[in-house]
Amino acid sequence: MKEDKPPQQHNHPRKITKLSQPLIYLLVISLSYILGYLSSSSSSSTTHNITTSTTTTSIQPSPPSSSSSKTTTNTAKSTSSSIPTDSLDHFRFLTRCGKPVSGELIRQTLLHKVYNGTSPYSEFPPPHINSLIKQKIIKGWGSKGAVFENLIRKVKPTTIIEVGTFLGASAIHMAELTRSIGLKTQILCVDDFRGWAGFRDERFKDIQMVNGDIMLMYQFMQNVVYSNATELILPIPFSTQSTLDKFCEWGILGDLVEVDAGHDFHSAWSDINRAYKILRPAGVMFGHDYFTSADERGVRRAVNLFARVNGFRVQVDGQHWVINSN
Ligand SMILES: C[S@@+](CC[C@H](N)C(=O)[O-])C[C@H]1O[C@@H](n2cnc3c(N)ncnc32)[C@H](O)[C@@H]1O
Repeated sequence: MKEDKPPQQHNHPRKITKLSQPLIYLLVISLSYILGYLSSSSSSSTTHNITTSTTTTSIQPSPPSSSSSKTTTNTAKSTSSSIPTDSLDHFRFLTRCGKPVSGELIRQTLLHKVYNGTSPYSEFPPPHINSLIKQKIIKGWGSKGAVFENLIRKVKPTTIIEVGTFLGASAIHMAELTRSIGLKTQILCVDDFRGWAGFRDERFKDIQMVNGDIMLMYQFMQNVVYSNATELILPIPFSTQSTLDKFCEWGILGDLVEVDAGHDFHSAWSDINRAYKILRPAGVMFGHDYFTSADERGVRRAVNLFARVNGFRVQVDGQHWVINSN
């Protein structure tokens, strides 16, 4: 009998242990939850501020700061108070470009640096390509929007840099515009001429593919030949990122820079920031898809964030966004 009943002094501590174990667990869980909440709320408030301000900008772009004049060695100038200064490092691209090449020498400089001094149109098309391209396929998206004529008449550019060209619809339109008002403008078309995965749908099924190689650049060049614009338009057939960085390094700057390549946020953000570096003082940067079905892919978000970080006002011209550098 004696042995049936546990000793009294053991009974009490066991009772405490039984009760306190869940209590301790509860305390530990609550404490870690509180600590976790406190630390996450401080970082999420940063994100929230940026998101909120971007959304606001898309409805009503923020006014430019008084210090928004453009230099070729610019860094972010006016900074939104909602973006912490230590985050700005993430927004940094090249900060210093090479000595600017004068507009008159740009074509010659690029023929030398990119094409070993020979025009890519020389003896074009080569015989083996002839049967793979059409006399012309000039199709684009908003490629003749009013913005092109508005900006060309306003800026009277010596150099236009187009970031994203495809078949050349907008580049050819700009060449026709500059020619019609007597400008001698050089249009540099930066595009890897690969299009994007699956682009040869119904609308572009005429663009041939040979062993996985797409004839986009040749068709673009044929379109330029057809439009009698080979002296005005020069393709630069590499990725936008590497080309824009090289342009900055080489001092190849544009009076007008059109950004219309990758339409996801990250591509647009990268292209816009790099394009800005190669804008001449008082130049204008613009691009498509600010108000189109592609909106949600991220162009507008990238444009708005860029404007906010740098203190610019986004102007809208039809489906296009426009940022004046001063
Ligand atoms: C929307 S199209 C350009 C349309 C042209 N501006 C027009 O209005 O006729 C986009 C082009 O960007 C090019 N592109 C997309 N991302 C690129 C990248 N990272 N580097 C080079 N080209 C790119 C594609 O090959 C495609 O030709």
